[in-house]
Amino acid sequence: MNRIKAVQRALAGRANRIYLEIGVSRGFTFRRISADVKIAVDPALRLSARSRRLADEKACATYYFEMTSDAFFANETSFLEQHGIDVALIDGLHTYKQVVCDVENTLRYLRDDGVIFLHDCNPALALIARPAASQAEFMAQQRGPLVIGVWSGDVWKAIVYLRSTRPDLRVAVLKCDMGVGVIRKGTPESRLSYSAAQIEALNYTDLANDRERLLNLKPSRYLAEFLGERAELPPT
Ligand SMILES: C[S@@+](CC[C@H](N)C(=O)[O-])C[C@H]1O[C@@H](n2cnc3c(N)ncnc32)[C@H](O)[C@@H]1O
Repeated sequence: MNRIKAVQRALAGRANRIYLEIGVSRGFTFRRISADVKIAVDPALRLSARSRRLADEKACATYYFEMTSDAFFANETSFLEQHGIDVALIDGLHTYKQVVCDVENTLRYLRDDGVIFLHDCNPALALIARPAASQAEFMAQQRGPLVIGVWSGDVWKAIVYLRSTRPDLRVAVLKCDMGVGVIRKGTPESRLSYSAAQIEALNYTDLANDRERLLNLKPSRYLAEFLGERAELPPT
């Protein structure tokens, strides 16, 4: 299981499937997803001509918005109202506050049975989880010999925030692919009770000591139950 298979699974069986990806980069995921309408948002789109062609072949229509997610949600309200969103992958700026903003903005257009996925919710190392204002700042902070390009930041805190503040959302994290967060409208099976100040104060050690509870961490096969499917996912 990974974010691509999870997104595709959530899109399956829908009519007129609308897919939104925030943070697209070279299109590693975007070009592999099949949907009727695919919407890409990134201030620095880096898809090659070949990736664009592959992405376009897997949709009836693709739309590329080369701007931040905040600008997209501020400027494209009529486009969003016209299309709605079935499934979204949020994988843009990896800061806790931005991810919360991206989730809240996406929820305004998400269908009642829609699904939001968040990449990078379960970092395996303190270095990968280091908070920074941007990927560039994260890279600049590192002084050899070990330089790592994979950055999850404090995206995981968005899960703690949503589980503490939203009684109207089901939220969990699949234990695969750096942690794939899953969000749907509905009554949560369990909640947290952290204040905003307490979430600010949490650090990587808190996460490492208590990941299962903080993230509502689940095996990949939980996705079938989360999506309300009858068939179990095959083992991964
Ligand atoms: C990890 S990459 C995305 C990878 C992609 N989703 C995939 O699966 O291959 C993160 C991307 O987020 C973009 N990004 C950074 N800040 C953003 C923002 N405020 N809004 C939207 N995208 C942003 C970056 O330009 C970068 O291309």
